[in-house]
Amino acid sequence: MPPATVEVHHTSEQAAQALRADVIAGLTATPKWLPPKWFYDDRGSELFEEITRLPEYYPSAAEREILAAKADELAAITEATALVELGSGAPDKAHLLLRALTGAGPLREYYPLDVSEHALRETAHDIAAAYPWLRVHGLVADFTSALTVPDGHRPRLVAFLGGTIGNLLPDERAKFLESVRNTLDTGEWLLLGSDLVKDRDTLVRAYDDDRGVTAEFNRNVLNVLNVELGADFDPAAFDHRAEWNEQEEWIEMRLRATRAMRVTLPALNLVVDFAEGEELRTEVSAKFRRNRVAAELTAAGFSLHSWWTDDEARFAVSLARAAG
Ligand code: SAH
Ligand code: AVI
Repeated sequence: MPPATVEVHHTSEQAAQALRADVIAGLTATPKWLPPKWFYDDRGSELFEEITRLPEYYPSAAEREILAAKADELAAITEATALVELGSGAPDKAHLLLRALTGAGPLREYYPLDVSEHALRETAHDIAAAYPWLRVHGLVADFTSALTVPDGHRPRLVAFLGGTIGNLLPDERAKFLESVRNTLDTGEWLLLGSDLVKDRDTLVRAYDDDRGVTAEFNRNVLNVLNVELGADFDPAAFDHRAEWNEQEEWIEMRLRATRAMRVTLPALNLVVDFAEGEELRTEVSAKFRRNRVAAELTAAGFSLHSWWTDDEARFAVSLARAAG
């Protein structure tokens, strides 16, 4: 069995530099914010996996339902020979895709890409062990900066699943989709998972579960700052908040200071004051409608080929083709 290979584009020094820049920008802003990619240290990736198994967190089950039902059709339409998975995380969805793409189709290369090196290595090795004939090459990289899609066999299929597109702000999304389009040849494919707008209660419960796993995931970003920057956040002094922003059609996760406090970040020579009740935005998770997905894909140079939802229309998987 050929072992998986892993290439590190985003080194720990680059990650540290990017973290420093984001923290300075976000914690000196009003209101304060942090980009969600910093959730995913080893503990954060584990907590996200736990979230995907919560009864309240429907997106994972809904997307799995779609992929299980449509993977054969996807293989027949795309005849993809290489699968590139951005923000791959755990290997379960890759298994669903690869079973069909290698069984009914000509696929011979799999390229998972993630900022989380540990999760990436686990997925790459798991897939390599299950598909010994497949070339598996992992990339530790940030899909929001200088995205390059591996130069594999054509046609390539880029998968961006889980609804992670919703964690990008609208201008970041447009830039990201354009960068994916620019790395593909005309006629190649994008498979995009997006969570759909639905009733407020279902949405809020998905981001504020009874067991408090999402709360721990949210607070974990403060542990990341403590470990990486020597900060002295007391995560227990922050309440987890998840609110539906009707106008923007996104869930906003925030951390609310339960008391006034001063936090020092020695690695940045930075002191940050929080007032009692002050909130730090840690994530947006945008929810979509079909016309918005189609319009954003078209604006980036794709055409929507297929739109698949689960039975309850909670989540959508779009197959789009790079237009000429
Ligand atoms: N695709 C999986 C995982 C979704 S969680 C699923 O559908 O369940 C989001 C994943 O994206 C995590 O594994 C996280 O480490 C990764 N990620 C988040 N921001 C990223 C970035 N800017 N570049 C690369 N990977 C990123
Ligand atoms: C990875 N991403 C799509 C998740 C989401 O639903 O926005 C991250 C998450 N945040 C809280 N729960 C899950």
